[in-house]
Amino acid sequence: MATNGKKKTEKEKFYLTTPIYYPSGKWHLGHCYTTVYGDAIARFKRMEGYDVFYLTGTDEHGQKIEKRAESAGVSPKKFVDGLVGEIKELWGALNVSYTKFIRTTDDYHVKAVQNIFKKLYDKGDIYKSKYKGKYCTPCEAFWTESQLVDGKCPDCGREVQETEEESYFFKLSKYAPQVRKLLTETDFLQPESRVNEMVNNFIDAGLEDVAVSRTSFTWGVPVEFDKGHIVYVWIDALSNYITALGYNGESESADMNRFWPADLHLMAKEIVRFHSIIWPAMLMALDLPLPKKVVGHGWLLFGGDKMSKSKGNVVDPFILKERYGADALRYYLLRAMPFGSDGAYTSEALLTRINSELCNDLGNLVRRTMKMNEQYFAGKLSKGAESADDAAIIAKANALYGAVKADMDAYRPQQALEKIFDLVGMANKYIDLTKPWALVKENNTERLNQVLYVLTESIRIIGVLLLPFVPETGEKILASLKLTPPKTNEGLSYGAVKTYNTVALDALFPRLNVEKELEELEKLASGKKDEKESVKKEEKKEENKQVSEQDNNYITIDEFFRTQLKVAEVLACEKVEKADKLLKLTVKVGEEERTVVSGIAKYYTPEEMVGKRVVLVCNLKPRNMRGIISEGMILCASEGDKLTLVTPETAIGSGAEVC
Ligand code: MSP
Repeated sequence: MATNGKKKTEKEKFYLTTPIYYPSGKWHLGHCYTTVYGDAIARFKRMEGYDVFYLTGTDEHGQKIEKRAESAGVSPKKFVDGLVGEIKELWGALNVSYTKFIRTTDDYHVKAVQNIFKKLYDKGDIYKSKYKGKYCTPCEAFWTESQLVDGKCPDCGREVQETEEESYFFKLSKYAPQVRKLLTETDFLQPESRVNEMVNNFIDAGLEDVAVSRTSFTWGVPVEFDKGHIVYVWIDALSNYITALGYNGESESADMNRFWPADLHLMAKEIVRFHSIIWPAMLMALDLPLPKKVVGHGWLLFGGDKMSKSKGNVVDPFILKERYGADALRYYLLRAMPFGSDGAYTSEALLTRINSELCNDLGNLVRRTMKMNEQYFAGKLSKGAESADDAAIIAKANALYGAVKADMDAYRPQQALEKIFDLVGMANKYIDLTKPWALVKENNTERLNQVLYVLTESIRIIGVLLLPFVPETGEKILASLKLTPPKTNEGLSYGAVKTYNTVALDALFPRLNVEKELEELEKLASGKKDEKESVKKEEKKEENKQVSEQDNNYITIDEFFRTQLKVAEVLACEKVEKADKLLKLTVKVGEEERTVVSGIAKYYTPEEMVGKRVVLVCNLKPRNMRGIISEGMILCASEGDKLTLVTPETAIGSGAEVC
């Protein structure tokens, strides 16, 4: 692949996936780790010239969702629709640059999972039998008696249910020798410690065929040839990695041809079992190539335990992002978690890292240098003669890209960041060593120019290499050098930019009062937002309103995508009694039927409406209109007293996304 300075003819692909999330509705900092980790890799690979496909999404089926929707009194689909926007908002807030967001309720995915199931059945790798054993609903996992710990789920420690039902089974045992070989004879799974875990605890303990359908609930992908069964949620979920590329078991797909096999599946350790045993076996059964690498990272702990909603020890990423910005959070997550091990979150550690590493070490280096550039040379510098004092820092700056690349190729962002900050530390020491203030006094302009040039070149290399980890900060640093983020990995050596015209910049990270912040976070966590905060928020809202008014009411792309627009087919239509303007429509959106009340009676008769395909706003809060609950809004275009429906130009299925 692209090495520094080499030209490529065609871009190589890099397909990276993070897990698709359960729409739990309470996103915590632990959730953010996998996706931010993935994002740093995706951005780094893009910088190296790869054609990156970064997939994430939501895992929306299963008994857990069905039960939660039932207690909320809504259909499971409505329940998950309400939660998906939030996770997209979270990824937007953290600047996650995913290529595609898949939902397991997407029609194309559902159809493809049905085909996959049928294909495996036709091949004899799925067969019908009876399941009798233990099932953990929160983890959606089947366990054998010997795998239980004190009779409870070995993953989450909760009670398991004795389950007995007719079920389809996947012949996992048939693939056990091949999977064992994959794990023990290749570097498919990292870190190494996870391999031992998988081989000792699962494969060598006897890999049994796995139940892959359920009959005791209905919220899932129906087995097409046996309607009482739904596909086991993990078969449904794992398949997303290929269905997102257009795999449907029937026809060719350009993205599948281009991007499969995945270069990296990234996840936390408790779901490595599914990705390193069941998933490769499924792919073997489907005669598809295997992913190149599975990396199972550790957990973010809080109070000594895995941060998780069920344990009630969660830290809200929206609050932290609002107070300290996306980059501070990204930096903390990427820097504080050693490869493969758990890392303990404390607010104190987060605030201390912001103050000492981001504000002091990095922020001061950049601010001081840019200030001196401006003060002594009006920002204009040029490469000069090197002296002995420059050798060590130049050597380190020159070696940095190679070192960071080696760490990122091994998927170790923490170590890569450490290397970047080693150069930051060295640059700060270089200021002490070369004493620019003394050079000013001595009137040694030539040496002063060279010292500041060396610092500025180091800062450029630091700024570029920080882009994958803390993109906003990298961009701010480059902006102070009047540079834009490069599209390639070229120029990452000392002397690549010969002259500068830099500008001073504000502090990259404001210094925090740790004690005060800890108090505030404590208050926020216990829900006691003080008045000042809400006043400030109101002020900010007002400010944003004014800005957005000045901005001609622009919305961001993320805001736009919170509106779910889908094609709906009108199945039935009638007038609403005692309401001249209203029609009541029954529409079909994918598999779902909805009632919608629309003010179009003056323009369309009920008969004209039946059979039409319209565009429906699906995630509008349901409202009561003349005693009818309207579940969405139909889009129309209007001009004066003319009105016409917005419809798809050519035939397309109901449920198709309008995007
Ligand atoms: N839906 C499954 C994944 C299916 S992939 C085919 C799932 N979802 S999840 O929402 O529970 O988790 C999403 C990701 O967040 C997983 O990688 C999970 O392991 C990770 N984490 C959840 N809590 C975590 C921590 N406290 N720390 C680090 N990662 C954590 O699993």
